Amino acid sequence: MKKKALSKDGPKVSPFIYGCWRLLDDPEGSDIKRVREKIDACLESGITTFDHADIYGGYGCEEVFGNALKDSPNLRDKMEIVTKCGIMLVDPARPDNRIKHYNHSGNHVIKSAERSLKNLNVDTIDLLLIHRPGPLMDPEELGAALDHLRKAGKIKYYGVSNFTTSQFKMLNACTNKKLATNQIEMNPVHQDPFLDGTLDYMVQKQIRPMAWSPTAGGAIFNDSSPQFVRLRETLQEIAGRYGMEMDQVLYSWLLMHPSQPAVVLGTNRPERIKKSIEARSRQLEYQDWYAIWSAASGEEVP
Ligand SMILES: NC(=O)c1ccc[n+]([C@@H]2O[C@H](COP(=O)([O-])OP(=O)(O)OC[C@H]3O[C@@H](n4cnc5c(N)ncnc54)[C@H](OP(=O)(O)O)[C@@H]3O)[C@@H](O)[C@H]2O)c1
Repeated sequence: MKKKALSKDGPKVSPFIYGCWRLLDDPEGSDIKRVREKIDACLESGITTFDHADIYGGYGCEEVFGNALKDSPNLRDKMEIVTKCGIMLVDPARPDNRIKHYNHSGNHVIKSAERSLKNLNVDTIDLLLIHRPGPLMDPEELGAALDHLRKAGKIKYYGVSNFTTSQFKMLNACTNKKLATNQIEMNPVHQDPFLDGTLDYMVQKQIRPMAWSPTAGGAIFNDSSPQFVRLRETLQEIAGRYGMEMDQVLYSWLLMHPSQPAVVLGTNRPERIKKSIEARSRQLEYQDWYAIWSAASGEEVP
């Protein structure tokens, strides 16, 4: 699979990205051997980009992944590493956090990135994202912190996640380099970014989104509410006709969007990782794309 830049000045990433949020939830465990199995399944499939955040796994996923890199130092050059900062969880690993909040201070962003470098056992982060926006975000201070990290060689590129278009523009006006991406939730049951201008702006500016929770966190396969049952029936019918699995249909559905999203996979199963990439070569008919949209929204398009 050919890597492609997220934006004109952004990093090249693989068409699918492996999301490390659930690394510690794997029923098969999260020792180095198991983590390595998933890294290998990705690399063998051409998935070279790995998505982290400081908070994943109760602030534990970066370290588990970093231990696998320490064990096999030759892996680092084969991958791009994305991580995020800014969310402050109430967690035993952060006893000072009394409530869940965001910290967008320059000092915190710099410290958090430095801690991620240590946990991941790497010298540089390929792409650092501000995990969520917040009302106390000062774009001048945040932009200066991101530029400082880049100048120091600690990160190569920066971007954001879950930002509205106006928040994206505000921060983009205060950084020396352009923001590389906006990582957002994209799936048939989360239609907001398709409708609220987020994706229109990104298409216009040729900035590709990173699409998180492509299967709505797995709810598409097991949620028993009428919306999900309806969507599942539609996906099953379409998957049967195309000779695909339901998750592959969802990935194809996302890949048809003109914003050319990089799909962030969440599965812990190496066999699902390997099969996901087949979705890339399958184009759905327009009618099937809209059948999925309408099954999720519960109504025909106007
Ligand atoms: N920026 C943000 O705010 C944000 C928020 C959330 C997530 N993310 C990123 O996006 C990544 C992906 O999100 P996600 O984990 O929610 O992705 P997802 O693919 O929507 O959900 C993954 C879950 O779906 C299940 N699943 C996948 N395929 C399945 C299938 N065919 N049948 C049954 N179950 C299936 C997986 O179970 P199995 O493991 O058993 O396959 C797993 O529990 C995360 O790892 C993280 O990197 C970012």
